[in-house]
Amino acid sequence: MNKAQTHPTNEKQNQKIATGDRAILPDGAKTVPIYVMGKRYEVPETLTIMKAMEFVGFKFIRGAGCRGGICGACSTVYRKAGDYKLHFGLACQTVVEPNMVLTQIPFYPANRAVYNIEEIEPTAESVYALYPELFRCVACNNCTKACPMDVEVMDYISAIKQGDLAKAAVLSFDCIQCGLCASRCMGELPQYHIAQLVRRIYGKYIQPRAEHLKKRVQEIDSGKYDGIVKALTEMELEELKRRYLESEREPNMALPGEWLPKDQEYL
Ligand code: FES
Repeated sequence: MNKAQTHPTNEKQNQKIATGDRAILPDGAKTVPIYVMGKRYEVPETLTIMKAMEFVGFKFIRGAGCRGGICGACSTVYRKAGDYKLHFGLACQTVVEPNMVLTQIPFYPANRAVYNIEEIEPTAESVYALYPELFRCVACNNCTKACPMDVEVMDYISAIKQGDLAKAAVLSFDCIQCGLCASRCMGELPQYHIAQLVRRIYGKYIQPRAEHLKKRVQEIDSGKYDGIVKALTEMELEELKRRYLESEREPNMALPGEWLPKDQEYL
């Protein structure tokens, strides 16, 4: 990110006006001091770290993506006043705290193996061959403590060492590839890349096939939906909007199999 511009200030009302994705600071809103890469800023106390940084003029050209806690691009490390501990979070999800001292780690260099998933043997040995550093793990658990998604990182690494790829795939499912685990690893493992390989193997070779999915793919291949896709593609925008607004909606919290639309032509 760049320090692109300072925030405009209305001196009369002492009210900061913001545009776009930035917050508008209402009268009487409280601000707190935070330190970004060593420099002090006053920011509204209700903002996430990402929005607070934008509020004071940072512009994210790296280190931000989904803004929804999914893409893992906004890893942030911080310390709180009077607290010896190092804290980890996602800038788009973590709300600022007074006197927090933070920096961003939007990318962490890590060894990533090269492989063709089509040619891989679906065994733990394949993982060991591509990532032999796996066995440098000393079970310190720093990786788990650093994970902003509360993934049991050390546990899935242990499962891989024990040859249980299915368990590791499930345990690592919430990983968003931010790399904070690797940043704290005493054994210098790229845990998140190892887990990604394991999930690929699991998804392609180990997980049971879904019969309904197979049937739907066959229907797609047979051209069942070609006509409606063509018609929708060529439809006027207003007609598309009308259809969308009038379409049947699944009720909230409907149990599986409890609801089906009246129009079942394309089911
Ligand atoms: S921007 Fe995607 S996780 Fe924060």
